Amino acid sequence: MDKPPVIECIGLGIDFGGLTALDDFNFTLGRTEIGGLIGPNGAGKTTVFNLLTKVYQPSRGKMIFDGKDTQNMNTVQANKAGIARTFQNIRLFKKLTVLENVLIGLHNEMDYRLPGAVLRLPSYWRAEKIARERALELLSIFDMQGMASMLAGSLPYGAQRRLEIVRALATNPALLLLDEPAAGMNPSETSELMENIRKIRDTFQISTLLIEHDMNLVMGICEGIAVLNYGRIIAKGTPEEIKNDPQVIEAYLGKKGRKEC
Ligand SMILES: Nc1ncnc2c1ncn2[C@@H]1O[C@H](COP(=O)(O)OP(=O)(O)OP(=O)(O)O)[C@@H](O)[C@H]1O
Ligand SMILES: [Mg+2]
Repeated sequence: MDKPPVIECIGLGIDFGGLTALDDFNFTLGRTEIGGLIGPNGAGKTTVFNLLTKVYQPSRGKMIFDGKDTQNMNTVQANKAGIARTFQNIRLFKKLTVLENVLIGLHNEMDYRLPGAVLRLPSYWRAEKIARERALELLSIFDMQGMASMLAGSLPYGAQRRLEIVRALATNPALLLLDEPAAGMNPSETSELMENIRKIRDTFQISTLLIEHDMNLVMGICEGIAVLNYGRIIAKGTPEEIKNDPQVIEAYLGKKGRKEC
């Protein structure tokens, strides 16, 4: 990965009781790069995201984000610093509208003055109007502006996954972490998602790290891939290198092409 790093993990590891979920994780993602993290169920992929977003503090090792050690950050600080994620199990505010879900992401970014907000001063309404326009603009990435007033919980599954990505983008990240974004999507939604991940990178100039079991998506979009097995990286390389790595084939891809590449 040859672009200057946005994130660098050095000897990262975490234990849960007697279980080592991740160990000796050395990984670098370049600026504007799209990277992939793959491996069998329970390999430690989501744990990496939980460490990067500071849901957990590592048992050992460190993470450098944008040149800064993240050791003392909590989840809110990590998000404010520029790390945003989506979840393997969708986490939206289902009883709020699509627009409101995006606005929640944007409010992280907005600098309200409390008296203005409480007294509903003109400055507050100006900021609200700008936020609504921005939210609609972000929704238009996925052509979802027409769904703005629908309840998030009423959207089809694929649209909920896309909304989660929009909400993450609303926090203005430098690093976007997508945990199985294609899960539950049909093939045409998945190929549209692939285009949109590229479009997001080109438009926002951000880095993306993708966890995904859909190998067409991973191999089609990622510039570099790391493969985890039992909490350890067993291979790193380009899609072509990973596809042909005997250890990866043995541990994950399957000898008889269990997963299509
Ligand atoms: N909070 C926790 N407490 C105890 N064990 C945990 C915790 N979080 C994760 N683990 C364990 O760590 C290991 C890695 O889990 P993780 O969720 O990172 O896997 P994964 O690669 O994302 O798998 P999947 O493809 O099924 O999502 C698993 O054995 C899991 O049970
Ligand atoms: Mg997972």
